[in-house]
Amino acid sequence: MKWDHLWINARLATMAEGKGAYGAIENAAFGGKDGRIVFAGPMTELPDKPDVLSGRVIDANNDWITPGLIDCHTHLVFAGNRASEFEQRLKGKSYEEIAKDGGGIMSTVRATKAASEGELIEKCLSRLATLGAEGVTTVEIKSGYGLDLETELRMLRVAKEAGRQDGLRVVTTYLGLHALPAGLKRDEYVSMMCGPVLEAVATQKLAETVDAFCEGIAFTPLETERFFQAATKRGLKVKLHADQLSDTHGAALAAKYKALSADHLEYTNEAGVAALASSGTVAVLLPGAYFFLRETKLPPIEAIRRYNVPIAIATDCNPGSSPVVSLLATMSMACTLFRLTPQEVLAGVTRNAARALGLQQEIGTLEVGKSFEYAVWSIDHPAELCYWLGGLRPNFACARQTTEQ
Ligand code: NIG
Ligand code: FE
Repeated sequence: MKWDHLWINARLATMAEGKGAYGAIENAAFGGKDGRIVFAGPMTELPDKPDVLSGRVIDANNDWITPGLIDCHTHLVFAGNRASEFEQRLKGKSYEEIAKDGGGIMSTVRATKAASEGELIEKCLSRLATLGAEGVTTVEIKSGYGLDLETELRMLRVAKEAGRQDGLRVVTTYLGLHALPAGLKRDEYVSMMCGPVLEAVATQKLAETVDAFCEGIAFTPLETERFFQAATKRGLKVKLHADQLSDTHGAALAAKYKALSADHLEYTNEAGVAALASSGTVAVLLPGAYFFLRETKLPPIEAIRRYNVPIAIATDCNPGSSPVVSLLATMSMACTLFRLTPQEVLAGVTRNAARALGLQQEIGTLEVGKSFEYAVWSIDHPAELCYWLGGLRPNFACARQTTEQ
């Protein structure tokens, strides 16, 4: 048997690079065997006539098949919520002021430390299920609400365990520099995160990537560099929350360490964009945070396009700046708020999101050899994935078919 499953009479948005709009193929078939894509092309090129009685052949009735969607930047493991801060912000208090008064990230840290591993798994599973119902098959999850050895490791274990239980592909990131806990000197804290915590994360293989929040209210470029140097020495790749609230030259710093991605980028200048282009770093744009914080400074989209920096889009799901548990809604925001095209956005949650996770050989396009992860949609055009704001669900989604993590 050439395939375990074969979809016929489908339309494919393969999202393969350089293959025209959406990499689209009409009158197509799409087959997988042993968890790998073995066919993605016109029906007329199928090697033999599909045996429709075999139970392995499914008629797509002209539905569109896309790669499984990828949410490449989330903070899904947390307890509590920050609805009262939302109320304060609506009355005029800023995100930075709330953080300086001991709220913000620190309030989620307190709630997360107080929660048991079981509670955290349950909450994370519910968020993963919500994303999964929208055709998301891969989710990146960061730590960063622990800020100590025990809780950072717990968050990463929770993320991995939730992925195991849910079946989605979960990629974990150790966000060691997110906020400075009270009672610790800056240097003491950074040393702990670059030393024993990083060592435990690496030796227990709890994450392959690290991240930091380089910002006026968080960590300086120098502190970030110290963390990146320690991480790269251990063979971990880096990502950066860069230039979200001010220009700290975060994009250039990310590029210097060949970061997989630089995320947010609202305040990034042209030199920063040029640096991202030369290091092959993906620009991860987060319209949910822009929307929720009522930001007005747009990321430098025109320069990002001009320098051909790959753009990814993600929910940034977190309780403070983006309580957004919908990648489809985020895709709509990326078009409406950031003026990206639906085609750019769909590439941003498939091919380029895969690259932002270093998984471009494995997922992100419907191409032979990649993992058989996809979603099937009853829509007339792929742009509909960005057009509906609520209500759209795939008919079927297939996440990674293996138990290994
Ligand atoms: O990506 N910028 C820093 N981290 C998160 C916000 C976290 C929080 O407010 O809890 C972000 O926006
Ligand atoms: Fe974030």
